[in-house]
Amino acid sequence: MATITIRGLTKVYPGGVRALDGLDLDVADGEFFALLGPSGCGKTTLLRTVAGLETASGGTVCLGGADVTRLPPGRRGVGMVFQDYALFPHMTVLDNIAYPLRIKKRSRADRHRSAREAVGQLGLEGLEERRPGELSGGQQQRVALARALVADPRMFLLDEPLSNLDARLRLEARTFLKRLQQRLGVTTVFVTHDQAEALALADRIAVMDAGRVRQLGTPAEVFRRPANLFVASFIGSTPMNLLPGIVRDGSVAAAGAEPPVPDEARGLVSDGEPVVCGIRPEYLDYNEEPVDGAFAGTVSVVEHLGGSSLVTLDVEGEPVRVVVGEGFDAAPGAAGWALPRPGRLLLYRDGELVTPARDTPLIKNGRPH
Ligand SMILES: Nc1ncnc2c1ncn2[C@@H]1O[C@H](COP(=O)(O)OP(=O)(O)OP(=O)(O)O)[C@@H](O)[C@H]1O
Ligand SMILES: [Mg+2]
Repeated sequence: MATITIRGLTKVYPGGVRALDGLDLDVADGEFFALLGPSGCGKTTLLRTVAGLETASGGTVCLGGADVTRLPPGRRGVGMVFQDYALFPHMTVLDNIAYPLRIKKRSRADRHRSAREAVGQLGLEGLEERRPGELSGGQQQRVALARALVADPRMFLLDEPLSNLDARLRLEARTFLKRLQQRLGVTTVFVTHDQAEALALADRIAVMDAGRVRQLGTPAEVFRRPANLFVASFIGSTPMNLLPGIVRDGSVAAAGAEPPVPDEARGLVSDGEPVVCGIRPEYLDYNEEPVDGAFAGTVSVVEHLGGSSLVTLDVEGEPVRVVVGEGFDAAPGAAGWALPRPGRLLLYRDGELVTPARDTPLIKNGRPH
């Protein structure tokens, strides 16, 4: 079983940067797992520590149930693709792919047989004798993947493998990667700082910040119910609307409206408590007429997204964004009302989602909370 179990993992670089801060994480066998977070949050450090290229300052890494924290990289059975691919410029494609087998001292004929198999799996036929400088970005990425694949690893660690590609190629490469992982069924940890990529590809996502996991869940859980304001503002191509409010008589007074306290938060907040209402632009319905419980404002900006529009309403000085379907024709200056869909409003207190304790899909630092 190619599981990954990480407990209390800490990495302090010489000079004192604490890149990982007591991090816990479990990746299941065969899972396509995304690590998502802003630049500098410790994603590369985590992958390199799992691969054995960095030594942990504290905590443990278990692969397939065995503690590998002190094992050298060559004995961990992981294939890694680096952020910059790290291909050898003077070697041919075939020799680059076969390189891990040279380290393992396999015969030349054997190395080339395995490398040709990987060439076939990644659709690189005809490019075997070229050098990396003579390839497109997408082809280089596939060479790096083939090199990770050739040693038959029990897991893949991919560090932003798509970041060097342009937008269209990136989309193609991402579908290709998803299909490859489904076909091979190899446990894969995939690093990205692109939240759309993580939502599209992953079985589960860990959102990281400052060396810790801030939320662990399926793409749907992380999108619909961010566990804290950090995740709420990080996830989503248009950020969640976050409106400060005060609890009053079973409602929340926020930006001139008084939506009811969400069911899950009922009994967990008291009158007079300051909270933040979170609602995604996708979960607000736009109305041209006044509606009970809606945020009332004035249209300030209309951005066309293709099939829909992103409308920014000025609500008592706060911008409230609403995704509106085709046919929207109100001009800036028009009055508009934004009504939260039932069950979609979230309540945050002290930066954390207000939710019953028995609700376990939300996991903090790898542990139910
Ligand atoms: N070799 C090193 N020596 C000292 N500090 C380092 C080293 N490598 C990384 N760091 C620091 O550790 C922190 C985490 O870095 P890391 O490369 O893991 O981030 P990341 O999440 O991969 O970021 P990015 O999205 O930019 O690739 C950063 O503050 C970084 O400056
Ligand atoms: Mg990185």
